[in-house]
Amino acid sequence: MKITSKILYVGVTSVVMLAASCSKDPKSPGLEYMPDMYRSPSYEVYTTNPNFPDSLTMQAPVKGTIPRNYTFFNYPSSNEGYEAAGRDVKNPLPVTEENVAEGKRQYEIYCTHCHGSTGQGDGSIVAIGKFPPPPSYSKGNSSRGGAMRDLTDGKVFHTITYGINLMGAHASQINPEDRWKIVMYVRQLQNDNKPVGSTTTVSTDSTTVKP
Ligand code: HEC
Repeated sequence: MKITSKILYVGVTSVVMLAASCSKDPKSPGLEYMPDMYRSPSYEVYTTNPNFPDSLTMQAPVKGTIPRNYTFFNYPSSNEGYEAAGRDVKNPLPVTEENVAEGKRQYEIYCTHCHGSTGQGDGSIVAIGKFPPPPSYSKGNSSRGGAMRDLTDGKVFHTITYGINLMGAHASQINPEDRWKIVMYVRQLQNDNKPVGSTTTVSTDSTTVKP
Protein backbone atom coordinates (compact mmCIF):
# COMPACT_ATOMS: atom_id res chain seq x y z
CA MET A 1 0.00 0.00 0.00
CA LYS A 2 2.71 2.44 0.99
CA ILE A 3 4.85 1.61 -2.05
CA THR A 4 1.83 1.95 -4.34
CA SER A 5 0.94 5.41 -3.06
CA LYS A 6 4.55 6.49 -3.44
CA ILE A 7 4.62 5.31 -7.04
CA LEU A 8 1.28 7.01 -7.64
CA TYR A 9 2.56 10.25 -6.11
CA VAL A 10 5.75 10.26 -8.21
CA GLY A 11 3.75 9.33 -11.31
CA VAL A 12 1.15 12.06 -10.89
CA THR A 13 3.75 14.69 -10.07
CA SER A 14 5.84 13.84 -13.13
CA VAL A 15 2.80 13.98 -15.41
CA VAL A 16 1.78 17.37 -14.00
CA MET A 17 5.32 18.77 -14.31
CA LEU A 18 5.67 17.36 -17.81
CA ALA A 19 2.36 18.89 -18.84
CA ALA A 20 3.32 22.24 -17.32
CA SER A 21 6.69 22.32 -19.06
CA CYS A 22 5.27 21.51 -22.48
CA SER A 23 4.28 24.49 -24.52
CA LYS A 24 3.61 25.08 -28.18
CA ASP A 25 5.78 28.15 -28.24
CA PRO A 26 9.44 27.12 -27.72
CA LYS A 27 10.29 30.63 -26.58
CA SER A 28 7.57 30.74 -23.91
CA PRO A 29 8.97 30.78 -20.38
CA GLY A 30 6.08 28.54 -19.26
CA LEU A 31 3.80 29.12 -16.34
CA GLU A 32 4.62 32.09 -14.13
CA TYR A 33 3.82 31.26 -10.54
CA MET A 34 4.82 34.65 -9.16
CA PRO A 35 4.59 37.20 -12.00
CA ASP A 36 5.65 40.02 -9.65
CA MET A 37 9.08 38.45 -9.55
CA TYR A 38 9.45 38.87 -13.32
CA ARG A 39 7.35 41.92 -13.96
CA SER A 40 7.95 44.56 -11.32
CA PRO A 41 4.78 46.44 -10.34
CA SER A 42 6.87 49.62 -9.84
CA TYR A 43 7.23 52.14 -12.68
CA GLU A 44 10.31 51.71 -14.82
CA VAL A 45 12.52 54.79 -15.17
CA TYR A 46 11.57 55.55 -18.76
CA THR A 47 7.95 54.34 -18.79
CA THR A 48 5.00 56.69 -18.68
CA ASN A 49 3.47 57.40 -15.31
CA PRO A 50 -0.15 58.46 -14.77
CA ASN A 51 0.64 59.95 -11.34
CA PHE A 52 2.37 63.04 -12.70
CA PRO A 53 0.87 65.74 -14.93
CA ASP A 54 3.73 65.42 -17.44
CA SER A 55 3.38 61.59 -17.33
CA LEU A 56 7.13 61.10 -16.82
CA THR A 57 8.45 58.72 -14.17
CA MET A 58 11.79 60.52 -13.87
CA GLN A 59 10.93 63.87 -12.34
CA ALA A 60 13.38 66.76 -12.31
CA PRO A 61 14.59 67.77 -8.82
CA VAL A 62 12.64 70.57 -7.16
CA LYS A 63 13.70 73.99 -8.45
CA GLY A 64 16.64 75.34 -6.47
CA THR A 65 17.85 71.88 -5.40
CA ILE A 66 21.62 71.70 -5.02
CA PRO A 67 23.81 68.60 -4.68
CA ARG A 68 25.24 67.76 -1.27
CA ASN A 69 28.57 69.51 -0.55
CA TYR A 70 27.93 71.84 -3.47
CA THR A 71 30.05 74.97 -3.40
CA PHE A 72 28.62 78.14 -4.85
CA PHE A 73 30.56 79.96 -7.51
CA ASN A 74 28.25 82.83 -8.09
CA TYR A 75 30.28 84.65 -10.72
CA PRO A 76 29.00 85.01 -14.27
CA SER A 77 30.87 84.03 -17.40
CA SER A 78 31.94 87.58 -18.28
CA ASN A 79 34.92 89.89 -17.88
CA GLU A 80 33.26 91.38 -14.78
CA GLY A 81 32.69 87.89 -13.32
CA TYR A 82 36.32 87.02 -14.06
CA GLU A 83 37.66 90.17 -12.39
CA ALA A 84 35.36 89.81 -9.37
CA ALA A 85 36.27 86.12 -8.89
CA GLY A 86 39.93 87.02 -9.30
CA ARG A 87 39.61 89.60 -6.55
CA ASP A 88 37.36 87.81 -4.05
CA VAL A 89 37.71 84.05 -4.42
CA LYS A 90 40.45 82.11 -2.69
CA ASN A 91 41.16 78.41 -2.99
CA PRO A 92 39.10 76.80 -0.19
CA LEU A 93 41.36 73.74 -0.02
CA PRO A 94 44.66 73.63 1.86
CA VAL A 95 47.78 73.42 -0.28
CA THR A 96 49.04 69.99 0.68
CA GLU A 97 51.31 67.62 -1.21
CA GLU A 98 48.37 65.27 -1.83
CA ASN A 99 46.14 68.03 -3.22
CA VAL A 100 48.86 69.33 -5.53
CA ALA A 101 49.67 65.78 -6.67
CA GLU A 102 46.01 65.15 -7.46
CA GLY A 103 45.85 68.52 -9.25
CA LYS A 104 48.83 67.49 -11.35
CA ARG A 105 47.16 64.17 -12.19
CA GLN A 106 43.97 65.93 -13.28
CA TYR A 107 45.94 68.60 -15.16
CA GLU A 108 47.66 65.85 -17.13
CA ILE A 109 44.25 64.46 -18.10
CA TYR A 110 42.48 67.69 -19.03
CA CYS A 111 45.04 70.37 -19.83
CA THR A 112 48.43 68.99 -20.92
CA HIS A 113 47.50 68.38 -24.56
CA CYS A 114 47.08 72.15 -25.02
CA HIS A 115 49.09 73.81 -22.26
CA GLY A 116 51.99 71.32 -22.17
CA SER A 117 53.20 69.36 -19.16
CA THR A 118 55.10 72.33 -17.73
CA GLY A 119 52.53 74.90 -18.83
CA GLN A 120 54.61 76.46 -21.60
CA GLY A 121 51.78 76.26 -24.14
CA ASP A 122 53.48 73.45 -26.05
CA GLY A 123 51.00 70.59 -25.68
CA SER A 124 50.76 67.75 -28.20
CA ILE A 125 47.96 69.27 -30.30
CA VAL A 126 49.92 72.51 -30.48
CA ALA A 127 53.07 70.62 -31.49
CA ILE A 128 51.32 69.00 -34.48
CA GLY A 129 50.09 72.40 -35.61
CA LYS A 130 46.39 71.80 -34.95
CA PHE A 131 45.95 74.47 -32.34
CA PRO A 132 47.44 77.93 -31.64
CA PRO A 133 49.68 77.85 -28.55
CA PRO A 134 48.12 79.11 -25.31
CA PRO A 135 50.34 81.60 -23.45
CA SER A 136 52.95 80.17 -21.08
CA TYR A 137 51.82 80.22 -17.44
CA SER A 138 55.16 81.56 -16.26
CA LYS A 139 56.23 83.84 -19.13
CA GLY A 140 53.15 84.71 -21.20
CA ASN A 141 50.48 87.38 -20.97
CA SER A 142 46.76 86.89 -20.42
CA SER A 143 44.46 88.07 -23.22
CA ARG A 144 42.48 89.76 -20.43
CA GLY A 145 45.49 91.78 -19.36
CA GLY A 146 48.46 91.25 -17.08
CA ALA A 147 51.08 88.55 -16.86
CA MET A 148 49.97 84.92 -16.71
CA ARG A 149 52.14 84.34 -13.64
CA ASP A 150 50.08 86.96 -11.76
CA LEU A 151 46.73 85.24 -12.38
CA THR A 152 45.03 84.65 -9.04
CA ASP A 153 43.25 81.51 -7.75
CA GLY A 154 39.85 82.96 -8.63
CA LYS A 155 40.83 83.88 -12.19
CA VAL A 156 42.25 80.43 -12.89
CA PHE A 157 39.15 78.79 -11.38
CA HIS A 158 36.89 81.06 -13.44
CA THR A 159 38.82 80.11 -16.60
CA ILE A 160 38.58 76.36 -15.93
CA THR A 161 34.87 76.73 -15.15
CA TYR A 162 33.81 78.83 -18.16
CA GLY A 163 36.73 78.65 -20.57
CA ILE A 164 38.14 81.65 -22.40
CA ASN A 165 38.08 82.30 -26.17
CA LEU A 166 39.42 79.12 -27.83
CA MET A 167 39.60 77.23 -24.54
CA GLY A 168 36.33 75.46 -23.74
CA ALA A 169 34.50 75.32 -20.39
CA HIS A 170 35.43 72.40 -18.14
CA ALA A 171 32.66 72.71 -15.54
CA SER A 172 30.75 69.70 -16.80
CA GLN A 173 33.69 67.30 -16.72
CA ILE A 174 35.64 68.46 -13.63
CA ASN A 175 33.91 68.91 -10.27
CA PRO A 176 34.68 72.07 -8.24
CA GLU A 177 36.94 70.28 -5.75
CA ASP A 178 39.12 68.84 -8.52
CA ARG A 179 39.13 72.22 -10.27
CA TRP A 180 40.57 73.76 -7.11
CA LYS A 181 43.27 71.07 -6.99
CA ILE A 182 44.14 71.84 -10.61
CA VAL A 183 44.31 75.55 -9.69
CA MET A 184 46.98 74.63 -7.10
CA TYR A 185 49.04 72.90 -9.72
CA VAL A 186 48.65 75.78 -12.20
CA ARG A 187 49.87 78.16 -9.48
CA GLN A 188 52.94 75.96 -9.15
CA LEU A 189 53.50 76.03 -12.93
CA GLN A 190 53.21 79.83 -12.86
CA ASN A 191 56.02 79.69 -10.34
CA ASP A 192 58.35 77.83 -12.76
CA ASN A 193 57.03 74.52 -11.38
CA LYS A 194 58.38 75.24 -7.91
CA PRO A 195 56.04 74.59 -4.97
CA VAL A 196 54.12 77.76 -4.17
CA GLY A 197 55.05 79.22 -0.84
CA SER A 198 58.45 77.57 -0.82
CA THR A 199 61.11 80.25 -0.39
CA THR A 200 64.11 78.02 0.07
CA THR A 201 66.23 77.20 -2.94
CA VAL A 202 67.98 73.90 -2.76
CA SER A 203 71.52 74.07 -4.07
CA THR A 204 72.62 71.09 -6.12
CA ASP A 205 76.24 72.20 -6.11
CA SER A 206 77.84 70.33 -3.23
CA THR A 207 80.94 72.58 -3.14
CA THR A 208 78.87 75.55 -1.97
CA VAL A 209 77.30 73.69 0.94
CA LYS A 210 78.90 74.77 4.20
CA PRO A 211 78.73 72.50 7.22
C1 HEC B 1 41.82 72.95 -26.28
C2 HEC B 1 43.00 73.47 -25.67
C3 HEC B 1 42.94 73.86 -24.23
C4 HEC B 1 42.63 73.06 -23.15
C5 HEC B 1 42.21 71.61 -23.15
C6 HEC B 1 42.81 73.88 -21.97
N1 HEC B 1 43.17 75.14 -22.33
FE1 HEC B 1 43.55 76.67 -21.08
N2 HEC B 1 43.83 77.92 -22.65
C7 HEC B 1 43.83 77.53 -23.97
C8 HEC B 1 44.03 78.72 -24.80
C9 HEC B 1 44.12 78.75 -26.30
C10 HEC B 1 44.14 79.81 -23.92
C11 HEC B 1 44.34 81.29 -24.27
C12 HEC B 1 42.95 81.84 -24.49
C13 HEC B 1 42.93 83.34 -24.71
O1 HEC B 1 43.23 84.06 -23.75
O2 HEC B 1 42.59 83.74 -25.80
C14 HEC B 1 44.02 79.26 -22.57
C15 HEC B 1 44.11 80.03 -21.43
C16 HEC B 1 44.16 79.52 -20.15
C17 HEC B 1 44.43 80.30 -18.96
C18 HEC B 1 44.68 81.81 -18.90
C19 HEC B 1 43.36 82.52 -18.79
C20 HEC B 1 43.54 84.01 -18.54
O3 HEC B 1 43.14 84.43 -17.47
O4 HEC B 1 44.04 84.69 -19.43
C21 HEC B 1 44.42 79.42 -17.91
C22 HEC B 1 44.66 79.76 -16.46
C23 HEC B 1 44.14 78.12 -18.44
N3 HEC B 1 43.99 78.21 -19.81
C24 HEC B 1 44.06 76.97 -17.70
C25 HEC B 1 43.66 75.74 -18.21
C26 HEC B 1 43.51 74.56 -17.40
C27 HEC B 1 43.77 74.47 -15.93
C28 HEC B 1 43.09 73.56 -18.24
C29 HEC B 1 42.71 72.16 -17.88
C30 HEC B 1 41.65 72.03 -16.95
C31 HEC B 1 43.02 74.12 -19.57
N4 HEC B 1 43.38 75.44 -19.51
C32 HEC B 1 42.65 73.42 -20.69
C33 HEC B 1 43.64 76.26 -24.46
C34 HEC B 1 43.28 75.17 -23.70
